[in-house]
Amino acid sequence: MVKNSFCMNFLSRSANEGFSRAVVSAFASQLDPTLEEINDIKTAVSEAVTNCIVHAYGDDGGKIYISAELYEDNTIKIKIRDKGKGIENVSQAMEPLFTTVGGERAGLGFAVMMSFMDSVKVRSTIGKGTSITMIKKLRHRFSVNG
Ligand SMILES: Nc1ncnc2c1ncn2[C@@H]1O[C@H](COP(=O)(O)OP(=O)(O)OP(=O)(O)O)[C@@H](O)[C@H]1O
Ligand SMILES: [Mg+2]
Repeated sequence: MVKNSFCMNFLSRSANEGFSRAVVSAFASQLDPTLEEINDIKTAVSEAVTNCIVHAYGDDGGKIYISAELYEDNTIKIKIRDKGKGIENVSQAMEPLFTTVGGERAGLGFAVMMSFMDSVKVRSTIGKGTSITMIKKLRHRFSVNG
């Protein structure tokens, strides 16, 4: 069952990478995550948002949409979406070291997201945009006061 949710959108400006990472992290903190868990979430969000900023839109820019849901079982689901150019071959794009911006980028963004989150799903349509859904189950922690 959904315990809480939010959604927001912002322009694809690099200044918003840190902003969106901070928002998701503040939202996720309601699940009382460990420092490691919160850092994993921040890193994955950074990679996904950076991809929207770098790859999705041309110089004109566009909007990035983020929504997240917290569930009763301590799971967080984060969706990061753009309405940009889309990815031609998703499974190839998700391979470690694959990049279309050779020389500048390592091609490790998706590999990082997959290693820090339990599940990463990518849906993309050429000319329509890309949507990344990431799920992470956080360790249950019980306080002394129950
Ligand atoms: N939102 C997106 N819109 C369009 N193409 C994307 C998007 N996200 C990723 N891609 C494509 O997938 C490729 C792989 O992405 P990935 O994040 O793994 O590597 P990278 O961004 O090229 O390099 P790094 O993340 O290491 O800086 C990108 O080079 C790009 O072609
Ligand atoms: Mg990347």
